[in-house]
Amino acid sequence: MTAKLISGSEIARQIREELKEETARLKEKYNVAPGLVTILVGQNPASMSYVTAKQKTSKELGFHSIQENQPETMTEGELLALIDRYNRDSQIHGILVQLPLPKHINETKVLYAIDPKKDVDGFHPVNVGKMVIGEADYLPCTPAGIQQLLIRSGVKTDGAEVVIVGRSNIVGKPIANILLQKQRGANATVTICHTGTKDMAFHTRRADILIVAAGKPKAITADMVQEGAVVIDVGVNRIGMTPEGKARLCGDVDFETVKEKASLITPVPGGVGPMTITMLMMNTVKAAKIAAGVE
Ligand code: GUN
Repeated sequence: MTAKLISGSEIARQIREELKEETARLKEKYNVAPGLVTILVGQNPASMSYVTAKQKTSKELGFHSIQENQPETMTEGELLALIDRYNRDSQIHGILVQLPLPKHINETKVLYAIDPKKDVDGFHPVNVGKMVIGEADYLPCTPAGIQQLLIRSGVKTDGAEVVIVGRSNIVGKPIANILLQKQRGANATVTICHTGTKDMAFHTRRADILIVAAGKPKAITADMVQEGAVVIDVGVNRIGMTPEGKARLCGDVDFETVKEKASLITPVPGGVGPMTITMLMMNTVKAAKIAAGVE
């Protein structure tokens, strides 16, 4: 079997169209523009490109958007003060602090400082807790994007064996929680594999849906995949440069061999990546609606 591609770029484009219309309606009817501030500390090249993409998309959708570029030398106290300022700014509905932060800043402390109502990344413990009990306002963006890819590609999650490779707070743990809820687009049997797992292939071969966020290129090879499985590759590994000077990317799945076995597979780039940014936009529109009392 040769897999069909799940085009994250195309699904993201459709959702952005929907969000653009919703934004125009909010402006016209309630005089509210979704407001997003993205805060970047330092000059990590990957973070710079993510934040630039988030800003570009938010402007395209008609948001009120602010980019805060702060120097690597910014202190934790200064960052907390900046967050506090945006917590109190009524034109801002979403605050995103791009991770990772420089080592001298405590990431947990920073994430706790964001008003949970403006936490459009869904990383604040209040929002993590609400997600676990199935009461989320804001789902974390990458896992929410994965769920949308499955729903909009017609993949049945109800009763499916889902195997996740990777237990990060940003992807592995939240996608497990989202897909096990007794809700539409979920209700799966979920297994999480990680670096302490004894026999990874034993688990991955049972997967109807295999979600890979291992942080390691080609961590999943064809022999680890069940015939006809749906494979979602969350990996973004930089493997040199293209002749045009852009970063060359590959996922955590050995795409060329696994695509011969899977029924559906996401490419890298153009799979999960575009969905992450789109879900951030969706959360920001939702935050604006909640703040305006129209949700
Ligand atoms: N760094 C890698 N992924 C993310 C994300 O989803 N949000 C933020 N804020 N930082 C990240």
